[in-house]
Amino acid sequence: MNKCSIAITGAAGNIAYSLIFRILSGSIFMPDTKIDLRLLDIPDAKKILHGVKLEIEDCAFNSLDTITVTDKPDVAFTDCDYILLVGAKPRSKGMQRSDLILDNAHIFCDQGKIINKVSKKSVKIIVVGNPANTNALIVCSNTPDIPNENISSLMRLDQNRAKSILSSKVGQHVSCVTKLVVWGNHSTTQYPDISHAQINNSNNFLDTIDEHWIHDDFIPRVQKRGAEIIEHRGLSSAASAASAVYDHFNVLVNGSDDWESMGILTSNNYSITSNLFYSLPLKISKNSFDIIESIEVSEKMRTYLSATEKELIDERDTVKEFL
Ligand code: NAD
Ligand code: LMR
Repeated sequence: MNKCSIAITGAAGNIAYSLIFRILSGSIFMPDTKIDLRLLDIPDAKKILHGVKLEIEDCAFNSLDTITVTDKPDVAFTDCDYILLVGAKPRSKGMQRSDLILDNAHIFCDQGKIINKVSKKSVKIIVVGNPANTNALIVCSNTPDIPNENISSLMRLDQNRAKSILSSKVGQHVSCVTKLVVWGNHSTTQYPDISHAQINNSNNFLDTIDEHWIHDDFIPRVQKRGAEIIEHRGLSSAASAASAVYDHFNVLVNGSDDWESMGILTSNNYSITSNLFYSLPLKISKNSFDIIESIEVSEKMRTYLSATEKELIDERDTVKEFL
């Protein structure tokens, strides 16, 4: 039997309520792998967290070995293989994700320090709590013993949204859309990029798509999709976010044939400022990734890349005391 320890923070929250069950019923790991699950939330959420534990037990999952529920980060993170940092305040109507920055920064700073002390040095960390890219930078700065490339922030929700919107536009199933990546920040400045996208392995569809649709409809719709969900649900996306975390986790463990988007630490790739968590196009194989370096950047595209880069630099300045 193989064992794998996974910690999920914000485990009494909305995303976790979907995510935990997706992971335990899913197929990220081989069938003989048993999961040692650690669920962390704050002391005030203790009762809810206990209820979540009872429901997990009631599912009688084959994949589950043990569950620990705790409000102590060191208990949750000790010797972990994977940590999913979901726990943070979500935004409500009328807010930007960056409005959460100072409320949430200390969570990622404190948890980063503890992870650095108690987790395996090979731990893989996925940052979901918003603003996810800058929170990932805070985690990275506070985990000096963990390789930078083991930390990534979630952009898969944006990539999934973009693929779904394009598939409706061209009238093809979403699984036919490949090589569609999202650059930059998980925010309204992100750049969903269809310039290299393919439908059924061909980019002929681009001849049928009007530039106005790309710039005035498609890009703003993807950029503002999070706010559109909040407008309708009164709460931020949870099931779709959990599904995207599952997809991100799955490609980290098993690799992907497609191009993927994740926030990773920059080091002057595509002339983007170093030391930001910026989403770049990636080829991911089991347990490692390579940045796709061959994409030509047009003048128009550079304007988009620079706007989202500038926003991330500003966010980094705001949290400098946590870095
Ligand atoms: P939620 O309010 O339902 O749950 C958050 C949970 O985190 C709560 O149970 C809360 O008690 C817990 N928490 C707060 N501080 C904590 C701490 N220090 N340690 C452990 N747990 C803590 O929110 P949600 O809908 O689950 O969203 C969680 C976060 O994910 C939000 O910041 C939201 O904006 C973000 N989000 C990100 C994406 C993305 O694509 N990156 C998508 C959706 C939501
Ligand atoms: C999303 O994109 O749905 C999440 O980041 C939640 C939000 O605040 O929009």
